[in-house]
Amino acid sequence: MTLSVGRLFAAAALLGLAGCSGGSIANGRAIFESGKDSDGVQIVAQPPPPLYGRCAACHGANGAGGVRFPDGAVSADLRHAALSEGAHPYTLPLLERAISTGIDNDGKPLDPVMPRWQLSQRDLNNVAEYVLTQLR
Ligand code: HEC
Repeated sequence: MTLSVGRLFAAAALLGLAGCSGGSIANGRAIFESGKDSDGVQIVAQPPPPLYGRCAACHGANGAGGVRFPDGAVSADLRHAALSEGAHPYTLPLLERAISTGIDNDGKPLDPVMPRWQLSQRDLNNVAEYVLTQLR
């Protein structure tokens, strides 16, 4: 059997991509559950969330939400069925926008209890991908 150099490169590239996407889901999970990314950096928002520096504190580790806040806000259900409802189902870019700017999938501002997160592009992408693909 002969293996061309091209094929070896293709295989290496595929392995690289697979490794990368596994890492991004793990990083997304770390941010969602612990509020720290895989480098151990605490996520921040503006204004800083007082007590709840991690998504799971308000949305639950499974993303089911339903936590009531004094101003009447209720943390959203982030599981797949809920995000797929309505005229504009959440996509990765729409989720990134909601998490970073507080604009929801219908273009409306979310309640201020939901922090406007200031994440690196990598962390924003990873946590949005985690929410979109792992919460059922
Ligand atoms: C302090 C509590 C709190 C924390 C922490 C928090 N959220 Fe939220 N989040 C909320 C509330 C409350 C809402 C609902 C806002 C509304 O009804 O307008 C919400 C809404 C959302 C929505 C919009 C869902 C929809 O149906 O439109 C997304 C997406 C979201 N949060 C993701 C996250 C992610 C990801 C994190 C962590 C990086 C996070 N949240 C951390 C309280 C929180």
